[in-house]
Amino acid sequence: MNGYGRLFVGILAAFVLSWVALILVPLNQVGNLMPLEDQVTGDMNPPALSGLAQRGSKVYAANGCASCHTQQIRSESGGADIARQWGTRQTVARDYLHQSNPNLGAMRLGPDLANLGADRPDLNTNSGPKKKYDAASLHQLFYAPKSVSGSSHPSYSFLYEKREIKGIPSGMGLSLPVGFETEEGKEVIPSEDAKALVAYLLSLNRTYALPEAPVKP
Ligand code: HEC
Repeated sequence: MNGYGRLFVGILAAFVLSWVALILVPLNQVGNLMPLEDQVTGDMNPPALSGLAQRGSKVYAANGCASCHTQQIRSESGGADIARQWGTRQTVARDYLHQSNPNLGAMRLGPDLANLGADRPDLNTNSGPKKKYDAASLHQLFYAPKSVSGSSHPSYSFLYEKREIKGIPSGMGLSLPVGFETEEGKEVIPSEDAKALVAYLLSLNRTYALPEAPVKP
C-alpha cells in the first residue's frame, strides 16, 4: 500500500469509528426505549404530554427558562438533588421519551424543575413542609414575582394582558395578593402562551418508578 492508500484507510477508519461511537452505540443504548406499563395502576410511564403542554415546552424554550433551570435529577452518588427533595430518583433517558426537544438545561440559578408538578420542598430550606404548585400560584410567580415572599424571580408579565373590565369580570383574571392588585376596573388575563407554559410545568412529574431507576422507599 502506498502513502495515499494508507491515508485513505486512515480517513475511512476515522469516519467509521466516529460513526460507531457517536451513532451506533447511542442508538443501541437508547434508540429502542418504549413507555412501560405500571403493573399496579396500569398507567403508561412516562405519561404522554397534552397538546397544551407540548406548546408550553416551546414557550419554556423560547423564554430562556433553561438558562437558569435544569430538568434532570442527579443520582444520589452524583449530587444532592435527592437529598434536597427535588426528586425521588435519578432522571433517565426514558423520562424524555415524549419530548422532541427536552429542556435539559445546564445552569442552576434556580431549582431543578423535573418534578415541579409533584410536591415541592420549601424553597428557602430545600426541605421541610411540602407544597404543591397550581396554576394560580405559578401565574402569580411569573406575573408578579415580588408578591411571592423571598422571590427574586425575573418577571414574565409580558405573557399577561391587563384589560379593562367591561360589564362583569371574565372570571379568568389573576387573583393577586394585597398590595399587588390591579387598578380598579381592570383585570390581568394570562395569554395562551402563559396558560400553555403553566400546563407544561404542572405536567412535569417523574415520581413514577422505572426498572432502570427505582424510586427509593
Ligand atoms: C435569571 C434566572 C432565572 C430565569 C431566566 C428563570 N428563573 Fe425560575 N427561578 C429562578 C430562581 C433564582 C428561583 C428560586 C426562587 C425565586 O427566586 O423565586 C426560581 C424559581 C422558579 C420556580 C419555583 C421553583 C420551586 O422549587 O418552588 C419556578 C416554577 C420557575 N422558577 C419557573 C421558571 C420558568 C417557567 C422560567 C421561564 C419562563 C424561569 N423560571 C426563568 C431563576 C430564574
